[in-house]
Amino acid sequence: MKLVFATNNQHKLEEVRAILGDNHEVLSLKEIDFHGDIPETAGTLEGNALQKAQFVKEHFGLDCFADDTGLEVDALGGEPGVYSARYAGDAHDSEANMKKLLQKMAKKSDRKARFRTVVALIQGEETHLFEGIINGSIIRKRRGNGGFGYDPIFVPEGYTETLAEIGDEKNKISHRARAIAKLAEFLRQQEVENKTD
Ligand code: IMP
Repeated sequence: MKLVFATNNQHKLEEVRAILGDNHEVLSLKEIDFHGDIPETAGTLEGNALQKAQFVKEHFGLDCFADDTGLEVDALGGEPGVYSARYAGDAHDSEANMKKLLQKMAKKSDRKARFRTVVALIQGEETHLFEGIINGSIIRKRRGNGGFGYDPIFVPEGYTETLAEIGDEKNKISHRARAIAKLAEFLRQQEVENKTD
């Protein structure tokens, strides 16, 4: 089955292809010859994921899925959430984003946070949403050089290392892996049902 993944992020593409396996041909935006930026103007992760998937469906007529992720910090009322990429400004600068977050958290004792990914799938006329969460806490000083984004200041529940220190293990336990695993299970189930029809 052919499915577009509304991304040009090579790392995400490989992660998703590995989880979905050979039964699904996953095409990136580049591979359907789209080289622009898809608008992400909704105020929620769900809204942005849907907006991206709908854009591809409308312009290319292809079944598609899209993801959107945010870091939700309890003591900040869920910030930075949907604004995680541009928390410290439009430059999408991870160092500046972490610095701003650590400053806002300086006097907070409740350090609980989660990464949440929403995947929106549009298949024909139908829309399906899948959610993946990893709970953890925000530490006071960055640690580790792996990963990206807020990884150096996030320690997952049950671990002592940050996401930037745990290496490949991250791809097994991450919010994105969990959401994509739900998508994969949904597609597998559909195949089983189609075979028995
Ligand atoms: P996106 O929706 O996947 O583009 O993620 C939005 C923003 O959330 C990114 O720019 C990062 O700041 C942050 N983010 C997403 N996934 C991760 C992750 O796995 N680790 C750390 N930060 C992440």
